[in-house]
Amino acid sequence: MTEKPRRKKVAITGFVEKKHKGEKIAVLTAYDFFTARFLDRAGIDALLVGDSVGMVLYGEKSTYPVTMEMMLAHTSAVAKAEPAALVIGDMPYMSYQPSLKTAVKNAAKFISEAGAEAVKLEGGIEMVATIRRVADCGIPVMGHIGMTPQSIHRFGGAKVQGRNEKSRQYLIESAQAIEEAGAFAMVLELVQADCAREITAAVKIPTIGIGAGKDCDGQVLVINDITGMYDIFQPKFVRRYAELPPLIEKAAEEFIRDVKSGNYPSDDESFV
Ligand code: KIV
Repeated sequence: MTEKPRRKKVAITGFVEKKHKGEKIAVLTAYDFFTARFLDRAGIDALLVGDSVGMVLYGEKSTYPVTMEMMLAHTSAVAKAEPAALVIGDMPYMSYQPSLKTAVKNAAKFISEAGAEAVKLEGGIEMVATIRRVADCGIPVMGHIGMTPQSIHRFGGAKVQGRNEKSRQYLIESAQAIEEAGAFAMVLELVQADCAREITAAVKIPTIGIGAGKDCDGQVLVINDITGMYDIFQPKFVRRYAELPPLIEKAAEEFIRDVKSGNYPSDDESFV
């Protein structure tokens, strides 16, 4: 295979500039070295090492069991691919909520131990002090509002946010407060499309939607959702771009057949 020419590194400044140039931003999750390489070759703008790893790689039912150790290991694998894409590490449940000191200590581990270039943390107005403190330490922070999975019980399930005036007001004020606190971008998850459009117009930093309609500055999806590798359930906003499980099953069936029939290995595949 001929190598594609190496892309220019996407830095935080370039990422933010895309909004001002009107260029849509494409983000996918990645949790390992090789997927990071493939997505980077495809030209992705940022790789989010999401705490969704708990559900899509470890079979957990939520993101709650995901630990700092898991996140650092997966972030480190992605960063080792040396992608041109921006690498963003997702701070897991209770790695930043307890205190500003805990938040800074753990955010710094993503940068200094795992090689991330930015961190993401969930929460609106109530997380502004944390975002400010981490950003003031020189660590780029991506905010995340809407239906934030680490607070799913508070929302009573994965419910679309911004549908009534109170929720809409809270989201707009949160977005502005997050920007003012120094975040470089924010994820809008499961946000009613008109509300997401209003938020996007109200802030200068890029909004990256997931289930938040077409007017966000960019979109993020989970790689295992778009390839069919997470087949437990498919949210309405997911578009399947590939169906990998049947290909894997077929490869395994052929291998099993070849082993059982003695067709594998051949002499060429042996050290004779
Ligand atoms: O963990 C994750 O993958 C995320 C995205 C869905 C935004 O937070």
